[in-house]
This record gives sequence, structure tokens and C-alpha cells, in this order.
Amino acid sequence: MNILMVCLGNICRSPLAEGIMKAKLSGSFMVDSAGTISMHEGEHPDKRAIKTAANHNIDISRQKSRPITRKDFETFDKIYCMDIDVLEDVVSKTKNEEERQKVSLFLEALGDHKNAEVPDPYWGDMKDFEMVFQLLNKGCDAIINQISE
Ligand code: 4NP
Repeated sequence: MNILMVCLGNICRSPLAEGIMKAKLSGSFMVDSAGTISMHEGEHPDKRAIKTAANHNIDISRQKSRPITRKDFETFDKIYCMDIDVLEDVVSKTKNEEERQKVSLFLEALGDHKNAEVPDPYWGDMKDFEMVFQLLNKGCDAIINQISE
């Protein structure tokens, strides 16, 4: 199973989600992340995201930001979007129902959080990054439960 995590810049939320998911999964899973904008293309994750992950013994320092591409809709089985704007943007790039079915809101896996969004910590501080980490950690557990059913 191939899983893609998507946020806006691919330097805060989705790199953390990728790192957390990779730490939880092994072998037959491929996990990657991307952004809907190319503004930060080629950059490593935000320093605060790297530090937050490191505080939980996860190394995301070698990841590099990239925008989502059309090919991703072939490569990936599941595409998880961090907020509704990102979801709408990603859905607008789909070409058919099969692709559309791959796309969902990341926190939807937490049943009681329908339409819930992972807040953007970019304009916040380390506390916001830690809160986002905790949310992503819960969401990843819920996704793993869902896909292993
Ligand atoms: P991310 O956070 O989508 O979680 O990577 C952001 C990163 C950069 C910007 C906004 C959000 N930006 O405006 O540059």
C-alpha cells in the first residue's frame, strides 16, 4: 500500500505525518508527502518541525518539499489531506472517480472528527508544532487501524 500525505507547503504538517507514519509502518508500505504549492520546493522541513519530530526520536531532516504531481494519483493508493482547502485543491486535480476515491481528509479516520482539520502551525510556535504532532500521531494510528481492517 502506498500512502501520500499532503499539506500546503510540504514543510510542516505533511513531513511530520510522513515521518510518524514511516515510524509506525514497515515493509510493504511506501509513505511519501507533498504540498499543493511549489513555493518551498527542494527545501528541507521547517526547523521547528524537524525539532518536534526529533523530540519524539523521529528524523525528518532529510525530507525535501515537493509539489503534488499528476503521477501521484497513479502511484499512491491513499492520499490524505491535512485541511479542507488542501482537499479541495487535490480533488480538483483528479481526473476520474477512481482517483477521487483515493483522496480524503487525514483526520476523517478519527470517526468523531468528521471534517476536522490539522491546523497549520507555520505561523505559530513550538507548542503549536507539538500539538500538531500529537494530532498527527492519533490520526496515523486511526489510519493504520482503518487500512488493516
Ligand atoms: P504546511 O505549512 O502546509 O504544513 O507545510 C505551511 C508552510 C508554508 C506556508 C504555509 C503553510 N507558506 O505560506 O509559505
